[in-house]
Amino acid sequence: NWKLTNYIEKTVAEIREKVGDNKVILGLSGGVDSSVAAVLIHKAIGDQLNCIFVDTGLLRKNEDVKVMENYGEHFNMNIKLVDASERFLTKLAGVDDPEQKRKIIGNEFIHVFDEESHKIEGAKFLAQGTIYPDVIESQSVNGPSAVIKSHHNVGGLPEEMDFELLEPLRELFKDEVRKVGEELGIPHHLVHRHPFPGPGLGIRILGAVDPEKVKILQEADDIFIEELYKNDLYEKVSQAFVVLLPVKSVGVMGDERTYEYTAVVRSANTIDFMTATWSRLPYEFLDTVSSRIINEVRGINRVAYDISSKPPATIEWE
Ligand code: XMP
Repeated sequence: NWKLTNYIEKTVAEIREKVGDNKVILGLSGGVDSSVAAVLIHKAIGDQLNCIFVDTGLLRKNEDVKVMENYGEHFNMNIKLVDASERFLTKLAGVDDPEQKRKIIGNEFIHVFDEESHKIEGAKFLAQGTIYPDVIESQSVNGPSAVIKSHHNVGGLPEEMDFELLEPLRELFKDEVRKVGEELGIPHHLVHRHPFPGPGLGIRILGAVDPEKVKILQEADDIFIEELYKNDLYEKVSQAFVVLLPVKSVGVMGDERTYEYTAVVRSANTIDFMTATWSRLPYEFLDTVSSRIINEVRGINRVAYDISSKPPATIEWE
């Protein structure tokens, strides 16, 4: 595809020109945008790019290992994995208000990132995977998502950070970002990942978050996503995940009475994430997911499927 190759060559040259022999910092999340931005910048300036990957303790199962394998080993990028999970989980202990949780996670993220970025001596640029729709969204004062929820990963730099911005994907739409990613050699499944919110599992564990609940949710979510891939359904839905409710119900396992948490399986189809319908997943598939979660995840004895559209429901539960 000559247009893409052209775009990549042109952007690589621009990045080299702009950066010179300075260092660039990038917060890698494992999501599509920051990953494509990272690989593109890495192609331009190699080890002058310093990626920081913060493990908030609220990531999906094995996400830290996967990101380090995919980008650290395979692309040979310079990535610092910062395990900040204890910090996040300590700050979140006992907090059950969703917006409060978002604030805590967002602030803590900025703190950790700020600390880490100052350890990288002489860094002049901060790179971000901002894409064209983010530019538009942050310009509209009354975008519903901006009002209803504070999306912490959309927006500018914290004021105290004194970097010049590098945003090589600013002119691209999502499908173009994916094409650039594939052209750069990022595997198909990685550039077609569903979006994952900045506050992560923190807003998918309803009410107060604790390490035990994180573990339970990671296991359940991993089963759902694995089954979606196995059944060729992952790319037929826009976003899919499991939510953990702080509600226990009675069940029976063998001859034993159980009293455990309820998990909700959520899958949405949408074009712009402003409105969405629930995915009409096959009953047989849902049956497999439900059985596997209940049988394999200790702590969950009941699974429900969310059949709410947006509006009036939102895609996430918090
Ligand atoms: P809702 O739940 O508002 O979600 O229908 C719409 C899209 O936004 C994502 N989302 C977030 N992303 N920080 C983020 O980075 C957040 O606080 C946040 N809340 C929701 C959600 O996953 C969906 O893709």
